[in-house]
Amino acid sequence: DQAEFGLIGLGVMGKSLCRNLASKGVKISMFNRHVPGKEENIASDFKQQHKELENALAFDELHKFVSSLQQPRKIFLMVNAGSAIDAVIEELAPLLSKNDIIIDGGNSHYEDTARRESLLSEKGLFFIGCGVSGGEEGALKGPSIMPGGDLQAYDLIKPYLEKIAARDKNDNACCTYIGKSGSGHFTKMLHNGIEYAEMQLLAEFYQIFKTKGNNPDEIAEILSKSDVDTQSYLLEITIDILKKREGNDWLIHKILDKAGNKGTGNWTTIASAQLGVPSTLIAGSLFARYLSAFKDDRDRVQNILPSELSAIEVSIDHILEAYQLARIINHIQGFKFLKEASETYKWSLNLSEIARIWTNGCIIRSELMEKLVDMLKSGDDLILHTEISSSIKKLKPALSKVVAKCIESNIAVPCLSEAINFLNGISQADSPANLIQAQRDYFGAHTYQRVDDKSGKFHHTEWLK
Ligand code: 6PG
Repeated sequence: DQAEFGLIGLGVMGKSLCRNLASKGVKISMFNRHVPGKEENIASDFKQQHKELENALAFDELHKFVSSLQQPRKIFLMVNAGSAIDAVIEELAPLLSKNDIIIDGGNSHYEDTARRESLLSEKGLFFIGCGVSGGEEGALKGPSIMPGGDLQAYDLIKPYLEKIAARDKNDNACCTYIGKSGSGHFTKMLHNGIEYAEMQLLAEFYQIFKTKGNNPDEIAEILSKSDVDTQSYLLEITIDILKKREGNDWLIHKILDKAGNKGTGNWTTIASAQLGVPSTLIAGSLFARYLSAFKDDRDRVQNILPSELSAIEVSIDHILEAYQLARIINHIQGFKFLKEASETYKWSLNLSEIARIWTNGCIIRSELMEKLVDMLKSGDDLILHTEISSSIKKLKPALSKVVAKCIESNIAVPCLSEAINFLNGISQADSPANLIQAQRDYFGAHTYQRVDDKSGKFHHTEWLK
């Protein structure tokens, strides 16, 4: 009576995924290592706590866990990304048989995933790097799942992943084969990059409304009346957060303004620099988090360079229009980034499918994402899509005005400013980069191409002659 599917690592996400699988009728085996000095057996204690785990098998000895699984074994790792994954693989691999499949469901770096996949393939084992989004609740009720690796191995785990995934509006699973190697984890990394910018934009609008004198309830009220096009999971949770009271005050007022991070925004920014794509909203939101972390510096600098924040005189409708457009730009940049990565790494990513699995279960699900599913079918860059370009035409004056007014009012809006700067840059055929090329050629003989030489040949000038 062996189990169909195994899970290693009973942290918050691992536990939720176990319950999700078991509640879909999958016979599972669960393993968590014994914590030295502790009496309890984490896996069997967990099994006792939930009715749906009645038929699940629980272990704290790895070899027994491995023997409890049907072959080829399918083992989902939910352990902390980083060296813990290598440590588990090192212990686990010698116990496995040819064609067994290890699935890493954490936020691992895509290059680590590619390395682990080739290491394990030498031993005849499969390794699937699988992005999972949706937090604890998503893992329990249906996350969005982004698996990458060997297609035949994927086919064997597909039924299980599809069972536990969220459903899109047509009742299809929010899970799709992303591509080979580290493409699943790359896609999850980019999801988080988009998430960082979406969160930062909401934070900037919170600041704008705060400066206008609105209290958190009023801001929540304004946001809840926004147009259907701006609706998203992150907007919804922001409204809940703003309304949360503690005693006579709002809880948000008690939270220290230093943003943390676990690294995926940092990786996305590095990857975008390596690929040579301008993902300026993601980078802007990452650096805004870093700036926030220098709380002491901000305190000291404010004493010497006090700057009075003042309310911007822009209507709520225009402010919400600016928000809508900044989100569109964030998604334009995000999907452009994926498209470039797909071409560079030869992953043949299906961008429309990726948008589809991001319409539910994940943190960046939104009405906009829903619309992008069809728009991305054409294969063109999003910015050229007629619906997007007409939205840009309509909303751009509001975004320009909000950013200009914020700068005059000393309100820091790094992500919003990146949005308008990107838009102004991308919609100008004429850029000042000719001067950059001339400077490079002047001091380093790096050469330049000429507009009047269609051959594309590179020229050099002796600038002082
Ligand atoms: C998700 C989240 C999840 C997690 C991030 C947060 O899709 O479910 O993105 O993966 O909350 O790791 O990242 P930071 O700690 O870097 O904000």
